[in-house]
Amino acid sequence: MTRDEISPLAIDEHASGSDESNLSRRAMMTRPWHPWHSERVLRCITCQAVHPLRDVIYRCGSCGDLLDVVFPRPTETGAALAATFRARRMSDNPIDRSGVWRFRELLPFYDNEAQIVTYPEGNTPLLEAPKSAGYAGLRRLRFKHLGFNPTGSFKDYGMVTGVTQARILGMRAVACASTGNTSASLGAYAARAGLLPIVLVPETGVSFAKLSQSLDYGALTLMVRGDFDVAQALLRKLAPRLGIYILNSVNPFRLEGQKTVMIELLEQLGWEAPDRIVVPGGNLGNSSSFGKALRELHDLGLLSKRPRITIVQARGAAPLSEAYEGGHSETLVRVHARTLATAIKIGAPVSWKKAARAVDWSDGWVMSVSEQEIADAKAVIGQDGIGCEPASATTLAAIRRLASEGTDERIDPDETIVAILTGNVLKDPDYTIRYHQSSLFEEFRSETIVTDHGRGLTSQFANPPVVVDATEEALMAVIQERLDTIG
Ligand code: F0G
Repeated sequence: MTRDEISPLAIDEHASGSDESNLSRRAMMTRPWHPWHSERVLRCITCQAVHPLRDVIYRCGSCGDLLDVVFPRPTETGAALAATFRARRMSDNPIDRSGVWRFRELLPFYDNEAQIVTYPEGNTPLLEAPKSAGYAGLRRLRFKHLGFNPTGSFKDYGMVTGVTQARILGMRAVACASTGNTSASLGAYAARAGLLPIVLVPETGVSFAKLSQSLDYGALTLMVRGDFDVAQALLRKLAPRLGIYILNSVNPFRLEGQKTVMIELLEQLGWEAPDRIVVPGGNLGNSSSFGKALRELHDLGLLSKRPRITIVQARGAAPLSEAYEGGHSETLVRVHARTLATAIKIGAPVSWKKAARAVDWSDGWVMSVSEQEIADAKAVIGQDGIGCEPASATTLAAIRRLASEGTDERIDPDETIVAILTGNVLKDPDYTIRYHQSSLFEEFRSETIVTDHGRGLTSQFANPPVVVDATEEALMAVIQERLDTIG
C-alpha cells in the first residue's frame, strides 16, 4: 500500500476535517457513549456540542467533528416495541411496509408522515449459505443480502432517510461523491422525490452497471479526473457555495436509515443476537450505523448480547485496518487506495471514528483481505446461488481466514455469524466474467496494481462459458462430461 507523501495534517484536511482534531479520536475515546438526548438534535461525537436538527451542517460547528442524530429514548421498549414493528408487516400502508420506516420509533426526525419518502426499500433476505460455510470451515453461515434493494445495494436503506431530510429542509438538489452505488441510489430516490440528483464519480474504475443507473435516473453525472477521495473533498467545498445538500454518509441522516439493517436482522433472528456480524468497510458509514443501531437496541432491551462487529477492507484500501492491526486505533493515516473491489476503493474514510466507536463498543475487529481472497470468496458465494459484488465478498474471505488462523481474533466454528452482502452480483458483471475467464488481473493491470507480490490472480473456482458447435453431438458431449462430474 502506498501512503501519500504529504503531512498527516494536510492529508486529513483534504480528506475529512479541517483541523487537527480529525486526525485523532483520543478526546472521543474518553467519553461514555450515551445513545439518547432530551430533545431531537445533532450532537457532536467528540465535544458533545448540540446543534438544531434542521441546520444544514455535516460537522460540529465547535470542533469540526462528525455529528449523530440523537433523540429522546422511545417510550415503548423491549417486547412491546418488537411487537409494534412486527404488527406493521400486516399493514397495507406503504410506510409500514418499508423495511426502514417500519422501525420509525428509532427514526423520529420527521414531523409528520406526509414528509416521508419511500420506494419501498429494505425487507432484504437472510440466506443460508452451506457451501460458503464449508469453505470457511464453519458449521453454519448466513448472509443478509442488502443487494435486494430497489437499486441493488444497501445504500437505499440510508438514501430514503437522507432524501426525506432533504425534502424537509426544502432543498432543490442533492449530491454525493461515489464509487457507484451511492450515486445510483441517490439518483433514484432524488428522482422519486422530485429533487435534482448530482453525482461525482471517479473518471475511471466505476462499474458501467452503476454508472448506467445514475444516467437513467437523470442525475447530472460528473466524472471527475481524480479518485473518490478527491471527489469527496471537492464536494464538501462546493456544496455550501451552491446550496446543494450532501448525501454521502458524512450526512448523519443517511446513517439513521442504515441502522434499520440491524433492526431487521435481529427481528429475522427472533431477537437472538449473533456472536459476530461481518461487514465490508469503505467510507465506513455502514459499520458506523450498525454500531449506533446496536447501541440503541441494547439500551431498549432488544439485544441479548453484543455481536462483535468485524469490518473488512480490501488490503489496498485499508486505512482503518492498518490502524487496528498496527495497534494505533486512535489515529488514521490516509492511504492511496488500490483494489479491484471498486466500491470500497477509498483511502480516507470519512466515518472512521464512528466505525471505530462501533468496533470498540462491540469488542469487534478490523482486518483486510487480499485481492485473491476476495475473488475466490466471491465465486464461492456464487456457488451458493447467491452472488454479490466484489466488495461484499470481503466478508467470506475474512471469515475463512479468521476461522483458520490461530490468533486472538480466531473464529470458533460454532459461532453464529451473519455476513452482510452489500451489493447485487449484477452491479459489476465485468469483474465476474473476467474471473471466470481467468483474465481478471490482465484486464486491469494497466490501471491498478492489485496483487501483493505483483503476481496475477488465479481463478481457482473459474466456471468459464464453453463455446460449442451447433450440433446435437457436440452439445451432448459437453453436457455429458459435466453430468459425469456430479455422479
Ligand atoms: N459495499 C458496497 C457494494 C459499496 O458500494 C460500499 C460503498 C461499501 C461496501 C462500503 O460501505 O462506505 O459504508 O463502508 N460504496 C460507496 C459508494 C462509497 O459511493 O457507493 P461504507
